[in-house]
Amino acid sequence: MKNKFSLKNKNVIITGAAGLLALQHIYAVLENDGNAFLIDIDKKKLNKRYKELIKFYSKKQINIFSGDITSEKFITNVNKKIKKLKKKIHVLINNAAVDYKLDSKHLNLIKKTQLEHFDINIWKKDLDVGLLGSLICTKVFGAEMAKNNYGIILNIASDLSFISPDNRIYNTSDKINKIVKPVSYSVVKHGIIGLTRYTATYWADKNVRCNAIAPGGIFNNQPKDFLNKISKLIPLRRLSRKNEYISSILYLISDASSYTNGTVLKVDGGRTVL
Ligand SMILES: NC(=O)c1ccc[n+]([C@@H]2O[C@H](COP(=O)([O-])OP(=O)(O)OC[C@H]3O[C@@H](n4cnc5c(N)ncnc54)[C@H](O)[C@@H]3O)[C@@H](O)[C@H]2O)c1
Repeated sequence: MKNKFSLKNKNVIITGAAGLLALQHIYAVLENDGNAFLIDIDKKKLNKRYKELIKFYSKKQINIFSGDITSEKFITNVNKKIKKLKKKIHVLINNAAVDYKLDSKHLNLIKKTQLEHFDINIWKKDLDVGLLGSLICTKVFGAEMAKNNYGIILNIASDLSFISPDNRIYNTSDKINKIVKPVSYSVVKHGIIGLTRYTATYWADKNVRCNAIAPGGIFNNQPKDFLNKISKLIPLRRLSRKNEYISSILYLISDASSYTNGTVLKVDGGRTVL
């Protein structure tokens, strides 16, 4: 039987490719013989990631584009460049979002993300990157896929697409500097599910599918206090390990999921069933 999980000759665009979770998507692609087209606004981090990857994978498998996904001009240019390389786009992973990792070093930002002090510019930026950026990539690359009668879009949601953040887990004992998950994060992660469902039906007749994955948190050497608190909220009693999303991502971006469309796969240790 043909290996439906193979990504051989498949070209996959990943946004926010220099970040933490993106590495899981990148491994899913490169380990299964696909080609990765990596986009990130942070040029330095993206170059560093590229240098690390080419130690283990062929340069032919990796292309990088540094720029802002909220700029339609930039995304249209990336599309043109990929066409010039005579490559078709098969998969888009809308991964980029603003995901603040706040601690006591970010006192100013902590205050600005509390609901009663919420900074409108933070709201605008977060919605722009997480929703407008995903829309622009879907519009430009999805339209290419529709023309080619083949495509898969994977949106990165979150357990916080379904539940409210439990702000007690981010809190330090210092109540003045109350750390919370910004409201904009909840709104973006709920919104991305709407985009997923809409896109899933829009080009279905052109064989373009769209799904989302809703990961829980990843272990990233967070402070012990946070890890203790969050573990109590997760039936499996721990955050995910760094490589625990790869197989679910691979399923959703390969032909193994050929009849899966418009779904949100929760991979969160059971956090959202409580
Ligand atoms: N880390 C987690 O535990 C976790 C859990 C669930 C869901 N997620 C989701 O995974 C995705 C990635 O999160 P992460 O933790 O890797 O975040 P991250 O901050 O490590 O990575 C995000 C990347 O996006 C890039 N980026 C930001 N704005 C951009 C723009 N305008 N144009 C292009 N690139 C831009 C950043 O430079 C960064 O490299 C997000 O959608 C997040 O909601 C993460």
